[in-house]
Formats: sequence, C-alpha cells, structure tokens
Amino acid sequence: MNYFELNKESWNEFTPSHVDSDFYDVESFKNGASSLNHIELEGLGDVSGKDLLHLQCHFGMDTLSLARLGANVTGVDLSDVAIQVAKDLSSELNIPANFINSNVYDLDKHLDGAYDIIYTSYGVLNWLEDLDQWAQLVHRFLKPNGVFFIVEFHPFIYTLDHQDMKIKESYFKTGPMESIADESYTDGSKTEKKNLKYVEWNHSLSEAISSLRNAGLQLESFNEYPYQVYNCFDHMVEIEKGKWVFEKYGSKIPYLYSIKMIKN
Ligand SMILES: C[S@@+](CC[C@H](N)C(=O)[O-])C[C@H]1O[C@@H](n2cnc3c(N)ncnc32)[C@H](O)[C@@H]1O
Repeated sequence: MNYFELNKESWNEFTPSHVDSDFYDVESFKNGASSLNHIELEGLGDVSGKDLLHLQCHFGMDTLSLARLGANVTGVDLSDVAIQVAKDLSSELNIPANFINSNVYDLDKHLDGAYDIIYTSYGVLNWLEDLDQWAQLVHRFLKPNGVFFIVEFHPFIYTLDHQDMKIKESYFKTGPMESIADESYTDGSKTEKKNLKYVEWNHSLSEAISSLRNAGLQLESFNEYPYQVYNCFDHMVEIEKGKWVFEKYGSKIPYLYSIKMIKN
C-alpha cells in the first residue's frame, strides 16, 4: 500500500473545507490576526530575520504568521491543494514566503541549504512512519546552533476512542492504523468524496525524543500541557479562553507536548 498517496488524497480533499471553516478563520487571518498560539510563540522566541523551515505546514497560515513576525519562511507540505492555497494567500496578502509541495521524506530533492529554525506542529508525527529518518532530515537541514521546535498532540490522546473515551489503541508504535472518514476535525469539513482512507501511526514520547537525540540534536526543553489549544476532538469543553479539555477527564491527562532541540 502506498500510504503517502492515500494520505495525500485525503489531505487534498480535506483542505478546501478547512479553508472555509470557522476553525481556521481565514478571514481574520487576512485581516491581520496571527494563527499562532502562545506555546509556539514562546517556544520559538524572536524569529525576526531568521531562516525558518516549517514542516507539514498545511495551507500555510502559521507559516505566513511567522513571516509577519519577520522570519524568512519556507513551508513544506504533501498536499498540492494545500500548497496552492498557501501560495495564493502569500501573494494575495503580499507576505513573502516560499512554499514547496513535497513529502518530508523527499525534502533533499527540493531543498539544499540550511535553516536557523525548523518548526512543526499539531498533528504532524502521526502521518510519519519512520521518525529516525525524519529526525535525520531535521538535523541535515539545520544550521549549526540551529533550533528545532515541535508542539504536538500528546500520544496518550491517540490511545483514546473519542466516542466512549476508553483506551482503544496502543500508546506505542505498532503497525499502521487505517481510518475511513468523510470529515475531519473542523466544522463543515464533510468532503465530496466519501470513505476517504488514510493511515497514521502513534509515536510514544520516548520515540519522538530519542529519534531527535540519536540524529545528533541536544535537548533544550521538553513540556507537557494539561489542555488542548484547539477544539479539535469530540466531547471537549473550554476551561479558559483557548484551553480545551475532554469533559470526562478535565486536566488530569496530558493533551500536548513540546520539544526544543539544538544542533551543536
Ligand atoms: C494536521 S495538519 C498540520 C497542522 C497544521 N499545524 C495546521 O493546522 O495548519 C497535517 C499536515 O501534514 C501534511 N502531511 C501529511 N503527511 C506528510 C508527509 N509525509 N510529508 C509532508 N506533509 C505531510 C498534510 O498534508 C497536512 O497538511
């Protein structure tokens, strides 16, 4: 099975409904709002004048928000539909950015050079089978003293069945997990094509951290968060502005984590 083709097709189908959703609120972004959350703003620090590579950038709002803060940005995504939207937003809003349609694993066919910062966020590692290969690419594309920052859904969340909230999947990586769906995590995201198939993997925290350390990066900081910054799963309630938790578990479980690594 070609996982990437399946996932690319699904993301191409989901993207137009995301662009139209209240969840992504493209209109506010066009009017100047940033799509970035406090976790990545604090984790990335001052990006002004930095060469920044954004992996799995979807349709580019976060990438362009970083460009608005003065970074020289390059965004990469598997979905050609998402990359086209990103390029259109960049030219419509006159925000300079470079967008590349590529599988992350094929990056060295499209890019050479190196970056001060590599960033990736919220729903990315679950689309990648081999984290060792991914981490080697992160290392390869960082300048000496460059910073890698990820903020990601906590793998514990992926163990839960989001209907009955019981543990369903392994916390640890097993084989590929296949799903069939015709909607995603945003409002109004029903796709025209029905029964889209896609494939994901769960990666434990130790797998994520070890892959980056084994590739040669040094751990600078690691955090876990007792809330989600998006209302992106069923049965969530907002406990404070921009902080969402499952009604059943509240803040007793981890929802997000972040890792900052340096290439010395
Ligand atoms: C949940 S989105 C990332 C979320 C992003 N922070 C956002 O909301 O704007 C996941 C993205 O990963 C991309 N993707 C999945 N597999 C990929 C791969 N192998 N290489 C590059 N991009 C990939 C998808 O096309 C999708 O745009």
